Amino acid sequence: MDFADIAIILAVIVTGGVCQRPPTCDFQNDQRLFTCRYVKEAFPKLFYGNYNLKCELCNIRIFSPQTFPYENNLITFNVSDSGLQYITSQAFSNLGNVQYLYLQNNRIMNISRGAFSKLRQVYQINLENNLLVELEPGFLSDVESNSVSLANNKISELPDNAFEGTLTLLVLHLQNNQIKTIHPNAFFGLDTLEYLELQNNQICYLPLGLFREMKSLRVLNLADNKLTDFSLGTFSGLSQLNGLVLANNSLQFFRWQ
Ligand SMILES: *[C@@H]1O[C@H](CO)[C@@H](O)[C@H](O)[C@H]1NC(C)=O
Ligand SMILES: *[C@@H]1O[C@H](CO)[C@@H](O)[C@H](O)[C@H]1NC(C)=O
Ligand SMILES: *[C@@H]1O[C@H](CO)[C@@H](O)[C@H](O)[C@H]1NC(C)=O
Repeated sequence: MDFADIAIILAVIVTGGVCQRPPTCDFQNDQRLFTCRYVKEAFPKLFYGNYNLKCELCNIRIFSPQTFPYENNLITFNVSDSGLQYITSQAFSNLGNVQYLYLQNNRIMNISRGAFSKLRQVYQINLENNLLVELEPGFLSDVESNSVSLANNKISELPDNAFEGTLTLLVLHLQNNQIKTIHPNAFFGLDTLEYLELQNNQICYLPLGLFREMKSLRVLNLADNKLTDFSLGTFSGLSQLNGLVLANNSLQFFRWQ
């Protein structure tokens, strides 16, 4: 065994030690911020008042109701960059006061039905820069959130009832995905939605009646897709629309009516 081997073994031992450090949280009073580190299974049991929380050096593969099982009044919950892959049903049901839920920059592939259930005050759920390919219908059910961002994922298809059960949603970001197929009832239930961002996908076809329930939609962004044509009545139902972006598609001819 030479010096290099010993160095590698030492490095492995040291890294192994770091991984097994128990989770800790420090509180910074000036920012009203808990910084939690080394969380893998569950956050430490503490009194979490109406403060903010962020995770650093965390590796939470599965977020379930057991990951954060404590009563709390947290306002911001930031588990971006924390190794998340899977969010189970009711995962955040103890975080009923959260206004900002940051889940970006993880490796999230699966979000179960009702994952955000019981969240009642959320301005923003940020799921950008993850690895979502499929959306489970009802994954946003029973949540009151103004804005949900699924931008920069790998979503290839929007199934029927994808967003069913969501309450009060105003802004939905789906740009920079690989959406090719949109099923005719994909946007069912989005009757409060005002902004829909679908730019930079692979959409070549919009099924008839897709937007029929979207009576509040004001801005529809379909730029940077592969649309070639629309059937008569594609946009019917959009009685509030005042912005439609179709830049950089492959439109051959344009028949509005
Ligand atoms: C969330 O936490 C990460 C990691 O500490 C940090 O880089 C990021 O700025 C935080 N985001 C917000 C919006 O607070
Ligand atoms: C998680 O998502 C991947 C990709 O969409 C899928 O192949 C897999 O079956 C899903 N697993 C579970 C447990 O839902
Ligand atoms: C047009 O859209 C495609 C994606 O469909 C994108 O790759 C390309 O950069 C866009 N071009 C411009 C000029 O924005």
